[in-house]
Amino acid sequence: MNYYYITGTSRGIGKAFAEHLLANPSNYVVGISRQKTIEHANYHHLYLDLTDVTAVSNFRFELHAKAKKIYLINNAGAIGFIKPIGKIESDTIIKNYNLNLIAPTILVNEFIKCYDSVDAEKVIVNISSGAGRKPVDGWAVYCASKSGLDMMSRVVDMEQKVRASHPQESIHAGFKIFSIAPGVVDTEMQMEIRSASKEDFSRLEDFISFKAKNQLSDTKTVSEKYVKLLNNLNTIKDVLSSISDYD
Ligand SMILES: NC(=O)c1ccc[n+]([C@@H]2O[C@H](COP(=O)([O-])OP(=O)(O)OC[C@H]3O[C@@H](n4cnc5c(N)ncnc54)[C@H](OP(=O)(O)O)[C@@H]3O)[C@@H](O)[C@H]2O)c1
Repeated sequence: MNYYYITGTSRGIGKAFAEHLLANPSNYVVGISRQKTIEHANYHHLYLDLTDVTAVSNFRFELHAKAKKIYLINNAGAIGFIKPIGKIESDTIIKNYNLNLIAPTILVNEFIKCYDSVDAEKVIVNISSGAGRKPVDGWAVYCASKSGLDMMSRVVDMEQKVRASHPQESIHAGFKIFSIAPGVVDTEMQMEIRSASKEDFSRLEDFISFKAKNQLSDTKTVSEKYVKLLNNLNTIKDVLSSISDYD
């Protein structure tokens, strides 16, 4: 059996990703979010608020000793608010970092701890963003958290390679990690972006126009591309990439 832990499966990219994986009866999906919208024999839902770092710290993965593949897909995320730094409440900043960066880092740490001695294909996929690779005004915390997710992925990749170079460590298969940006996708997050105020966000018209001109990808197409990559790991170009690199 293949096990996929996916955060943010109640809607958007995460939901489409889970549904696509569930089409294969060899896959079992554990979804994590505050709401449940998927019913399937091979689906289990964990209700967790990922801004609650104490609850996230108490979360434990189940040991799947005979698994063929075990994946962690850190997908849940939110733009949170769109305002320049200087106009944001501290609590809002903390919650957004918790969701977009702290929770995924805790989950990656627990995932590696739990499955270290399990001999399966072990892969972590962080759903990153172009916003982590170039600044967007009004999105400081979102950009910084996605940039942090990218760098955390690069460090974990390096650590796995350093470990693999020690002969005594080669008994169990190591972990692979990728941080892949999905492009601009037609989800609730995009609706939130389009509802920002013009005075707080200079690029508002661009995002309204992406939707008006039908330039957003749909969640089904994007999740299909992710699943294709996961089924062909050797085609992934680098730790950091974007789904458009594979068009
Ligand atoms: N859409 C885009 O254009 C775009 C572009 C670049 C990157 N991304 C990234 O893609 C990922 C998915 O985004 P999306 O567009 O699919 O967003 P979305 O439609 O808003 O869905 C977000 C998902 O995250 C979950 N989530 C949000 N807050 C949570 C919390 N506090 N605790 C647990 N789960 C929470 C939501 O579930 P609940 O509300 O049920 O908890 C939902 O399932 C995000 O990481 C986003 O940054 C999206």
